Amino acid sequence: MHYPRGSRPPRPQRSRVTGQEQNQDMPLSLQFSAAHAASVGVDALVVGVLAGDIANDSELRELDTALNGALFKLVKAQEFQGKPEQTLELTSLGHLKAARVLLLGMGNESDLTNARLRSLAAVAARWAQGCQVVRLGFVLPVVPNVRALAEGIGLGAYRFSKYFTGDRQPKTDLAEVLLLNRQRVTPALKRELKLGLAIAEAVGLARDAVNEPPNEFYPETMAELARKLAKQYKFKLKVLDKPGIQRAGMKLHYAVGQGSANEPRFIHLTYTPAGRAKKKLVFVGKGLTFDSGGLCIKPAPGMGEMKSDMGGAAAVLGLMKAVGELKPDVEVHCVIGAAENMPDAAAYRPGDIFGSLDGKSVEIINTDAEGRLVLADALAYARRLKPSLIVDAATLTGACLVALGKTCSAYYSADDELAERFGDAAKEAGENFWRMPLLDELGDQLKSDVADLKHTGDRWGGSITAALFLREFVGDVPWIHCDIAGAVLADRAQGYYPKGGTGHPVLTFLRFVEAWS
Ligand code: BES
Ligand code: MN
Ligand code: ZN
Repeated sequence: MHYPRGSRPPRPQRSRVTGQEQNQDMPLSLQFSAAHAASVGVDALVVGVLAGDIANDSELRELDTALNGALFKLVKAQEFQGKPEQTLELTSLGHLKAARVLLLGMGNESDLTNARLRSLAAVAARWAQGCQVVRLGFVLPVVPNVRALAEGIGLGAYRFSKYFTGDRQPKTDLAEVLLLNRQRVTPALKRELKLGLAIAEAVGLARDAVNEPPNEFYPETMAELARKLAKQYKFKLKVLDKPGIQRAGMKLHYAVGQGSANEPRFIHLTYTPAGRAKKKLVFVGKGLTFDSGGLCIKPAPGMGEMKSDMGGAAAVLGLMKAVGELKPDVEVHCVIGAAENMPDAAAYRPGDIFGSLDGKSVEIINTDAEGRLVLADALAYARRLKPSLIVDAATLTGACLVALGKTCSAYYSADDELAERFGDAAKEAGENFWRMPLLDELGDQLKSDVADLKHTGDRWGGSITAALFLREFVGDVPWIHCDIAGAVLADRAQGYYPKGGTGHPVLTFLRFVEAWS
């Protein structure tokens, strides 16, 4: 299409790409209700079923009676046993107010962890969203944790549809979920519900950011998103633009960003609790809004997935939103190195040598190993904040994908106690993390003949040598490095992750923050 000079179409409004608006086509309402399953006015019912004595489940018996005995016949014919995530869908043919019913297996009560409950609730909400349910009734035999349940419902209802038009636009939105349980509803339980939904929205912010196309979401828009969060939750915000990054001495970050028309940004958000802070935690995120590989350009197949190379930044922004809601009594910082890695006349090259914020000089080997460069300066910055500990998240290496697959992240820490605490947080969050070793003997690979450090080693142990490179910039601050290359983007929906941007590892980070407060 041609536009007369001077009347080119306006650049998309920056405010279009914000966590706020993106995930709020229709706010989801979640409430307790004392209504009965058979008579409540909803489009669909989800009935959770524990494994075991299904024939004596009182809720099922009531529904079976309303359905003239069809329910238990189907349960038998389909061998529905209430195994975790086992489902049985049926229509009520006018015998119930709800047109559809989904029996959802919950497994044994003793195995019903918060992580499993969250996942089950998400499966149910995703099912409802998928069959155009607007009002959903949820019947569960037990609810060990209302917050996890609400998180799961919010996470399952998520979808990313802002770029669809016409017929591709969703016709309905899951708008109301009623929890039909017989337990006493206290103000504390209502608060848990609200908090769970708010946390799901925070994860949604991270998912949105990953799902956004790189022409809409670039370093400047990421900084705008941070600005919105700062305004909403009264965080302190510092943003450095390209000249600012140079003036600050972040030479590695600057080098990575110099080959793109979308200029780099450095972002620092701070949450300070009202009372005395118990700890100071700094979360650092890799924010490559697109990674073409630079002059060492990547092959075309799969290159589009590199829009997710800001998954670490997305996660720490999502975490900050959750922190804004939760208000823990620890100080939480979010530090992001945002850039786009592109080949260009101004792009950095293999063979270049740059200084760094830390002072060390680095010889560039492969321009596709850009993440560790941006992170090196961000970590050096984080260290100057004198934190109790630093956690970084980065879609750092393909080697991590080879090692652990697309659903599991690697984490590294020299400190066993810290690593254990982190592993516990991941488990409670229901996210896959595997601890990897910082093998000193691989460090020789990073020795350069012309500078203090080379920034890549050889092929073997690629995720480990990347971690060793980062270690050079954290000094003696306790530190956890997360290589999240695979899990930020999913090929298919599973548990509480949808297909596409997953929001990994926002919940792990949030549990970890809560563990210090
Ligand atoms: N962003 C990539 C890592 C990546 C690859 C994430 C695949 C998700 C899926 C990173 O910047 C990169 O390109 N790393 C290189 C490093 C190598 C050149 C030493 C890699 O892993 O191939
Ligand atoms: Mn790369
Ligand atoms: Zn990258």
